[in-house]
Amino acid sequence: GARIFSGIQPSADSLQIGNYIGALLQWKEMQVTNDAIFCVVDLHAITVPQDPALLREQTRRTAAQYIAAGIDPEQAILFVQSQVPAHAQLAWILNTITGFGEASRMTQFKDKAARQGADAASLGLFAYPTLMAADILLYSAEEVPVGDDQRQHVELARDLAGRFNSRFGETFVVPKAVIPTETARIYDLQNPEAKMSKSAASDNGIIWMLDEPARTAKKIKSAVTDDQREIRFDRAAKPGVSNLLTILSAFTGTGIPALEEQFTGRGYGDLKSTVADAVVATFEPIRSRALALLDDTAELDRLLSRGAERAEAIAQPMLERVYDRVGLLPRA
Ligand code: TYM
Repeated sequence: GARIFSGIQPSADSLQIGNYIGALLQWKEMQVTNDAIFCVVDLHAITVPQDPALLREQTRRTAAQYIAAGIDPEQAILFVQSQVPAHAQLAWILNTITGFGEASRMTQFKDKAARQGADAASLGLFAYPTLMAADILLYSAEEVPVGDDQRQHVELARDLAGRFNSRFGETFVVPKAVIPTETARIYDLQNPEAKMSKSAASDNGIIWMLDEPARTAKKIKSAVTDDQREIRFDRAAKPGVSNLLTILSAFTGTGIPALEEQFTGRGYGDLKSTVADAVVATFEPIRSRALALLDDTAELDRLLSRGAERAEAIAQPMLERVYDRVGLLPRA
């Protein structure tokens, strides 16, 4: 199998269903046949302001949700980004070969900076994509399973790998993004034109993995649809219904056309109940496993330390190779 690397930011108490469908669901399958490394990217989370005590808690909660959702910390390497210093160190080197204009074209930066106000956005937010490239390149990852919104960042990592290799000699593997086609992007339930995001202004359109099942069901049943009756996938004309079909498809493994057929002549209420049942059936056991893991944070912290040691054994030699290639003088 291939070496794969991916990560999620610990930027909220709970992951949302987009993280599950865009990332965790694929990770779980890929870890079986591949050499998988999964990271809780806390250094990325602090590119926007975070409360220190909360951040520490959210980092544990995110790790617990990886495991609860099926990531096996023995089979895969699971660790916290800041516990392996090579990430920040390689990011600096990559900053020196990244163009200012190139970084300015990153759409996620433009969106986030616009939301914060250009003057409030930090230099760290601007450098978010080079830190992400460092994550991937340190481990010679061949495949990067992510949601559709991360395509441009993985593309930058590819460019930087190629650029470094041609300037300093063959060093990095050029990675590629692995993005599920039909379910690559989940939209906000209340605003199905906008990507569902942990940082959305309102909570009503977000399905959290750790929400109580009754709350999750209620949110799905109040999802915005349209004033027609037809259950059909049409992103432009029927964004709400299409989003529900996408979620159902991801949770049942049934293709969208088969779902459309199954729901011919049935109502939106029926579709929503079916989606709610499917989501709750999957998330309820994940929620209880995650909460159980969080009962013993000492054990969880030890597990993460072991993961960091395993990660560092791969990352540190790569960093040393890079320093050497660039011409940095090692300690005698
Ligand atoms: P984050 O935390 O923003 O998102 C984590 C993962 O969830 C996916 N995702 C979605 N997928 C579908 N629909 C949505 N609404 C949705 N929202 C989020 C994202 O595509 C992502 O796969 N920058 C990365 C974290 C990262 C990383 C890396 C990933 C840091 N270093 C190295 C891969 C490799 C991110 O978007 O985190």
